[in-house]
Amino acid sequence: MAACRSQSLVQAQRRISEVRNGTDTEQQLRLYDGWAAEYEQDVTILLYQAPKLAASCLASVFQGPRADALVLDVACGTGLVAQELQAKGFCRFHGLDGSRGMLDHACRKGLYQELKQCMLGQEALPASSGFYNAVLMVGALSEGHVPTSVIPELLRVTKPGGFVCMTTRDDQSNLKYKRRMQKLLDDLERRGLWEKIRVQEVEQWERATAEQEATGGSGYISGVVYLYQKTPSVGF
Ligand SMILES: C[S@@+](CC[C@H](N)C(=O)[O-])C[C@H]1O[C@@H](n2cnc3c(N)ncnc32)[C@H](O)[C@@H]1O
Repeated sequence: MAACRSQSLVQAQRRISEVRNGTDTEQQLRLYDGWAAEYEQDVTILLYQAPKLAASCLASVFQGPRADALVLDVACGTGLVAQELQAKGFCRFHGLDGSRGMLDHACRKGLYQELKQCMLGQEALPASSGFYNAVLMVGALSEGHVPTSVIPELLRVTKPGGFVCMTTRDDQSNLKYKRRMQKLLDDLERRGLWEKIRVQEVEQWERATAEQEATGGSGYISGVVYLYQKTPSVGF
């Protein structure tokens, strides 16, 4: 039984490494297509908590009736974020992802009223400006995944006064990306387009895929949840 569990852990770690090291976006999305059926089982083994943490972060500040709030889940994958938000009373979800296989699994959950395939970071988001009460992007803003150029788009499609919640990893292989992301987040704040509401640093974000990436030999990598509020008076 223990041998079986450790074999599953090794397989989950191998899959994560594969998608992180994909040579280009098309190849990476094909890997996600092939992983979709076992994605949730594998991230459970890796103790991946980002969807739960992001949902709790948004719910802790969201004012007004949650049942009326329209939420965009960017890089929705199989729908773990909507699942966590539904448990907190949200029920109107649109989802975007580049992988057909992941979108098919999200569709089977029956939680999303709209799901679209979209190459993030390469094209504008297929949504009107100022449309969503909240926009979340969980588990996809990192080196080898979606470029930070998608972030102004997350802001654009959010309603004035609405929230943008994002996550990133905090391990060695993602430090440069995290720095670039932080600079962009700060720049948008300096321009008065949004305000930082919360930054939650989490030490045990998920199990590391290799010992050298774990924080202080803990076996885990750390990560961050960012929550911003779009300036109510902003005109787009
Ligand atoms: C680690 S999964 C996260 C899924 C979900 N948000 C979660 O937390 O479980 C990353 C997702 O990003 C999508 N993705 C990665 N790069 C993408 C890109 N350039 N364009 C669109 N989707 C992308 C993948 O298909 C995958 O579903």
